[in-house]
Amino acid sequence: MTTPGVQGGLDEPGFEVDEEAAAADAQVRAGDVLSRDAHLAAAEGALLRCDEVVAGYVPGVNILNGCDLYVQDGELVGIIGPNGAGKSTLLKAMFGLVTIRTGTVVLRGEDITGLKAHSLVRKGVGFVPQTENVFPSLTIEENMQMGLFQAPKRFAERFDFVAGLFPALADRRKQRAGSLSGGERQMVAMGRALMMEPSVLLLDEPSAGLSPALQDEVFIRVRQINKAGVSVVMVEQNARRCLQICDRGYVLDQGRNAYTATGRELAKDPKVIELYLGTLAKA
Ligand SMILES: Nc1ncnc2c1ncn2[C@@H]1O[C@H](COP(=O)(O)OP(=O)(O)OP(=O)(O)O)[C@@H](O)[C@H]1O
Ligand SMILES: [Mg+2]
Repeated sequence: MTTPGVQGGLDEPGFEVDEEAAAADAQVRAGDVLSRDAHLAAAEGALLRCDEVVAGYVPGVNILNGCDLYVQDGELVGIIGPNGAGKSTLLKAMFGLVTIRTGTVVLRGEDITGLKAHSLVRKGVGFVPQTENVFPSLTIEENMQMGLFQAPKRFAERFDFVAGLFPALADRRKQRAGSLSGGERQMVAMGRALMMEPSVLLLDEPSAGLSPALQDEVFIRVRQINKAGVSVVMVEQNARRCLQICDRGYVLDQGRNAYTATGRELAKDPKVIELYLGTLAKA
């Protein structure tokens, strides 16, 4: 049995998940892969990493309870997990929008824990929030200018790059973002974040609320962005597709990394299927 709706929609073959074979495959168990020592060793030289991050919004209440994550240059890393697990909080903590109580965030060897978002943008970190990620009253072009407000002279050059990835946006550059469809708005949001030429892009549920066809388009675009040289950390509610396109995935549960392995390994791990994919993927 294969997962319906994923074949053909993505730009590379071979992402079908054979659940029956996977269930019988006891060789690869994500739980075994989650040795902290192995994770630490693999995180050596990472482009961006967080180690034992504890963070929360309200005093005395921790949402993240010791999160580890890394992304190497060129990687596409996915984060899945139940609602309320802390996925958005983790991205926001990495982007300086949630106070980190203990633990570190390190970018190319530099400790960036606690730095504010605008400093991180300058250092090459881009972030697309889960909601309200465009300026609806501004045109597409103006949204792109907002993305580049710290380096306005580079507009033409960067707009060309973004237009190469999203030609439809260039064609409609004078249209107000608020009049675009949900999928088009996601492209604007990603385009805006790409204007500053980030080395790593943090995406929070880019396919949320979109039709299956538009979700496919978003996943294809995320892969294209990654292939254009931008490392990506993507939170996704569409767990199966996320695992199909990512190099490595993390399952976050109650503010901790429950499992981590390659996307393929996680997608066929019986425990992950039982605990997370069963409910998440059908949602
Ligand atoms: N601004 C906030 N103030 C206080 N608590 C918050 C805030 N934002 C999120 N939380 C709490 O933090 C916990 C984790 O929320 P978070 O948004 O990180 O989850 P998530 O894994 O992204 O969930 P979802 O899949 O629904 O997007 C939740 O219990 C939520 O209520
Ligand atoms: Mg979220």
